[in-house]
Amino acid sequence: MKEILSPSFKVGILGGGQLGKMLGQAASNWHLPLYFLDESRDFPAGIVAAEFVEGNFKNYDDVLAFGRDKDVLTIEIEHVNTAALELLQAQGVTVHPHPEALDLIKDKGLQKLFYQEHHLPSSHFELFEDEHAVRHAVHSGRWQYPFVQKSRTAGYDGKGVAVIKNESDLQHKLLQGSCLLETMVDIQKELAVIVARNPSGEIAAFPVVEMDFNPDANLVEFLICPARIDPVIEQTAIELSKKVIETFGICGLLAVELFLTKDNQILINEVAPRPHNSGHHTIDSCYTSQFEQHLRGILNLPLGSTAMKCPSVMVNLLGAEGFSGPTRYVGLEDCLALPGVKLHFYGKSTTKPFRKMGHATVLAESVEEAVRVAKLVQEKLSIQC
Ligand SMILES: Nc1ncnc2c1ncn2[C@@H]1O[C@H](COP(=O)(O)OP(=O)(O)O)[C@@H](O)[C@H]1O
Ligand SMILES: [Mg+2]
Repeated sequence: MKEILSPSFKVGILGGGQLGKMLGQAASNWHLPLYFLDESRDFPAGIVAAEFVEGNFKNYDDVLAFGRDKDVLTIEIEHVNTAALELLQAQGVTVHPHPEALDLIKDKGLQKLFYQEHHLPSSHFELFEDEHAVRHAVHSGRWQYPFVQKSRTAGYDGKGVAVIKNESDLQHKLLQGSCLLETMVDIQKELAVIVARNPSGEIAAFPVVEMDFNPDANLVEFLICPARIDPVIEQTAIELSKKVIETFGICGLLAVELFLTKDNQILINEVAPRPHNSGHHTIDSCYTSQFEQHLRGILNLPLGSTAMKCPSVMVNLLGAEGFSGPTRYVGLEDCLALPGVKLHFYGKSTTKPFRKMGHATVLAESVEEAVRVAKLVQEKLSIQC
């Protein structure tokens, strides 16, 4: 393989959104040029790209053409054309995460089967061909309310998830098409662990984070690090997440979303084999950011220290309700005047309700203080048009 930081060494990223942009910012410290494939160079990663190829990462020919002259390929979204990645891998391009893992992970049904097969703890589930089969299973008494229905392949940010509580939901709220049902978990807290692995087999986990959800948008609202949990539970969550990345055999990052149940069990909810919303705080609050760690993992470099510099709370900056149009940041200066606030904007030219437009990480000496300031950020900053 070519020397990693030589001018001819090319790292390609499928997807050019905000995760790609932040990967590019990390790569820029090493003066490592990144190449992107996505629909428009006006997307967030456009600003950091050595070259931005306009095309569709779901399209076989586009991925093949993009990948041919790259040394290493990775992703910032899992819904990419894996058939093309497999061919590129066979032709000698290094691909992380490996395409077989991507195929498993991008189908929530296959993901659950994988946990079952490897005895990794996760909620009880069953796969269904479509919504009619679900109704049949409920009417025949096999499934009782409440339960959670998930689309196998169409979901992100809560859009492919329905909580079915009664007959009326069963008639009106079911998602169409191939899906799975999960028993409703009695959740105490939702946690996430970002873990990294490199081809030499080194594994490192970032501190556990606590995800606080906005019930209206079903999006993470506050991300709190360190999570306010018992040290024994913290250790269990970290050990489990390391086991999950090892079992998948993934290099680069794996974000593991976990449920802490009311009776203190840890269950795997789902995983993402890439940088993740729940790791954005690491840019400002940890020795190594998740983005740098992903690059270290895919390039087989020593993994960086995941130690925390200070407690933090991350807030997603979402488009305000009632505004769709050219982006305008209202209250920016008030927000920058607050102590320990680090603002990150993704440069999306148009806003719409609940769209992820950026994030703020609040650094403080305690989690309580960071939560207090994070609430002020939400009050003062509004993304409108
Ligand atoms: N089995 C379950 N029991 C209870 N709540 C669940 C269950 N599965 C998902 N949820 C809730 O729905 C949210 C979104 O589900 P998830 O599978 O993570 O979908 P997404 O891909 O949209 O993130 C979870 O973060 C959690 O709040
Ligand atoms: Mg999720």
